[in-house]
Amino acid sequence: MKIIDGKGLAEQLCDGLRDRICVFATRQGRAPGLAVVIVGADPASQVYVAMKERRANSLGIRSFRHDLAADTSEDDLIALVDRLNADPGVDGILVQLPLPRHVDAGRVLDRISPAKDVDGFHPVNVGRLSIGTDGLVPCTPLGVMRLLETVVTDFRGLNAVVIGKSNIVGKPVALLLLERECTVTVTHIETRGLHGIVSGADIVVVAAGSPGLVRGDWIKPGAVVIDVGITRMADGSIRGDVAFDELDPSVAAATPVPGGVGPMTIACLMLNTVQAAERRV
Ligand code: GUN
Repeated sequence: MKIIDGKGLAEQLCDGLRDRICVFATRQGRAPGLAVVIVGADPASQVYVAMKERRANSLGIRSFRHDLAADTSEDDLIALVDRLNADPGVDGILVQLPLPRHVDAGRVLDRISPAKDVDGFHPVNVGRLSIGTDGLVPCTPLGVMRLLETVVTDFRGLNAVVIGKSNIVGKPVALLLLERECTVTVTHIETRGLHGIVSGADIVVVAAGSPGLVRGDWIKPGAVVIDVGITRMADGSIRGDVAFDELDPSVAAATPVPGGVGPMTIACLMLNTVQAAERRV
């Protein structure tokens, strides 16, 4: 079984962006700009945002961080988004989720200019993805496809099973696999007979947030397994949704957790930022 090296592939992807960032900076007289908005002090969000900023700065993307208090009103948040939409030095806007309960996340995300929506969460970009036209695609699904492309040469007709139906991962991954002409089955927490469905899959993408949900003996020989799950356990360790240790050597390839999808998500955010910057010119 091949272990897909997400960390290494993320490095490669970022290295490939350096030239584009240099060319952009030389021609435009400024670096591509990424605004990151974080509301409140959710510890996981703080860690993710710090990783995104560090990566951006290491590549020559300027990051503009906006740390807002947990009790920031929805209207103030919307006003900030409006300012970032109008700011010529900002190419990408990312509002870190989850937002506090008193804020309507949908209203905030809808306000981000689709051209600057590097998360790909705006309904315009969701719509573009669903009809297969060029838009900004959510980072984790984009990373999942990049990882799959390193081990799958021809997607046509393969049985792909997606576990999880979130707007951030499950649904967009399913659309991207469908675009590649996989036969896609989307499953979720209410799905009956999950084991049987996964057993027939050539590609399994798991984004359920349920540690060890997918057992080794569910995976058929030759299949590829992408684990999007990241759960911090009581002992501080990180676990994925796949019981990785149980995977049989006959499995073609699988991603580890950590070091699989996570690094690719951040690399794809950089890719989306560069793409948004280039397209705005
Ligand atoms: N929170 C968890 N995942 C994500 C993501 O991909 N984007 C944003 N903005 N927030 C998140």
